[in-house]
Amino acid sequence: MPVVPATAPGKLILFGEHAVVYGKPAIAVPVQHLTAKAIVRPRPKAPPGEVWILAPDLELDTTLDKLPADNPIAAPVLACLAALGIDQPPALKLRVNSSIPIAAGLGSGAAVSVAILRGLSAFLGHPLSDEQISEITFEVEKLHHGTPSGIDNTVITFGKPVYFIKDEPIRTFQVEKPFTLVIADSGVSVPTRVPVGDVRSAWEAEPEKLEALFEQIGDISARAKQAIESGHNHSLGPLMDENQLLLQELSVSSEKLDRLAAAAKEAGALGSKLSGGGRGGNVIALVDDAAVEQVSEALLAAGATQTFTTVVQ
Ligand code: PMV
Repeated sequence: MPVVPATAPGKLILFGEHAVVYGKPAIAVPVQHLTAKAIVRPRPKAPPGEVWILAPDLELDTTLDKLPADNPIAAPVLACLAALGIDQPPALKLRVNSSIPIAAGLGSGAAVSVAILRGLSAFLGHPLSDEQISEITFEVEKLHHGTPSGIDNTVITFGKPVYFIKDEPIRTFQVEKPFTLVIADSGVSVPTRVPVGDVRSAWEAEPEKLEALFEQIGDISARAKQAIESGHNHSLGPLMDENQLLLQELSVSSEKLDRLAAAAKEAGALGSKLSGGGRGGNVIALVDDAAVEQVSEALLAAGATQTFTTVVQ
């Protein structure tokens, strides 16, 4: 049996987080230089059925049967075996590594799941299709996020920019002209289900107010898609700023995220906003290439723990 490696990228939500949970469009892109990697290899001398899991980032070095079913590594493994109807796989070792920061809005959980599903199903001789991988990852995400919209599993599985509307067929789209983003990690790690739950409570208390905010955010996503497809990248800056104001109104920003977004603008970014669930995680800033250094430095000076640069293409 061969050794099978598989990877999946990280992701960024550019526009539309939270509103996407309520059926509005959002835009997400893969971040190819951040990756989750799964390597599956046979263990010919081990007893059949024994699945060894090694995930140094999560300090796991154990067998599958010792892990709870909702463990982020065990869950996709069990889901893969169930999807393939395999009770007892040949003895194997699954190694998982990821360069995607955890709980930072970069899709680390979904990427780990996609890489495992891809690698393990191929190793077992029945490679799952991208549609199946995305769907199973969505189910796995539910264990951790409660009510995910499905945007993470979609963009990470298909590895292309997506214009995502819940329960609608997948729509990938073309980036006419590449553009550069500086990503700043706030160093604050907040599980997505916390702001998602708070937005739900607010929506239950004041449905009309929240629906109006979602509508405006969805409209920004639609305008941003047009700008990206037609190469009008500079108009994305003001759209990011507008989206950030609406996220503040939804109470999913924070003093630190606002400070980082403002620091990026002062240093010359064309626009900036939080990305993902909010309260913590990342701020993204649209920059001309000449401004990358100064914007990154300003973000670090304003309290970011690290910055990355990515080109969306
Ligand atoms: O924190 P992240 O990057 O997983 O993004 C969450 C995005 C939300 O719209 C807030 C929730 C969702 O499921 O779409």
